[in-house]
Amino acid sequence: MDRHQWDERYSGEELVWTSTPNQFLVSEVVGLPPGRAADLACGEGRNAVWLAEQGWQVTGVDFSPVGLAKAQRFAALWDVAVTWVESAVQEWTPPPEGFDLVAVLYLQLPQPERSIALEVAASAVASGGTLLVVAHDQDNLARGFGGPPSADVLYRVADVTDVAVAAGLTVERADQVVRVVDTDTGARDAIDTLVRAKRAE
Ligand SMILES: C[S@@+](CC[C@H](N)C(=O)[O-])C[C@H]1O[C@@H](n2cnc3c(N)ncnc32)[C@H](O)[C@@H]1O
Repeated sequence: MDRHQWDERYSGEELVWTSTPNQFLVSEVVGLPPGRAADLACGEGRNAVWLAEQGWQVTGVDFSPVGLAKAQRFAALWDVAVTWVESAVQEWTPPPEGFDLVAVLYLQLPQPERSIALEVAASAVASGGTLLVVAHDQDNLARGFGGPPSADVLYRVADVTDVAVAAGLTVERADQVVRVVDTDTGARDAIDTLVRAKRAE
């Protein structure tokens, strides 16, 4: 989906995604000391706002101005400050001091743009900082619930670890994980890629 299609998707008053943060962001970040965080492809801001509530100094980046406007309203509702940046992730220039946490959640991009975006994300990780990538996994197409129906925007764990290692990060976790989704017909499993990597001090 291009920027205009995302704008269109975000054009209603209702949130497209939930207002609660992603469960893997919460479980992976909860032990980290708050510092500077970047939420890339931040959408309507649920994850950026949660990070800000935890004391992180957050920058949210997304290429959809309509999504960002909703994120801004959401942050105001929760009375937290977040810096919002309208940019494609692969065209974004991170500040030289970097971030203690760079989170990329459910960025649906085909190759080669995906690897470029992940390279930008990895380059933004400061010394001692963490990169967290969570995405719909390729296997979700055949045996998981929801997510995009086209294989070209689905991830393999190795897509992310290859970029992380090439950027000088140490991979701390690289897994397929199951996210349980409540539906009208009961709980269903969605399969995600999860990679957490760290830059040495
Ligand atoms: C599935 S939503 C996920 C939003 C958010 N990360 C979350 O978990 O709620 C994907 C988001 O990626 C954004 N996006 C897609 N491609 C992008 C790109 N190349 N650069 C920046 N944002 C992009 C869309 O505008 C959309 O907000």
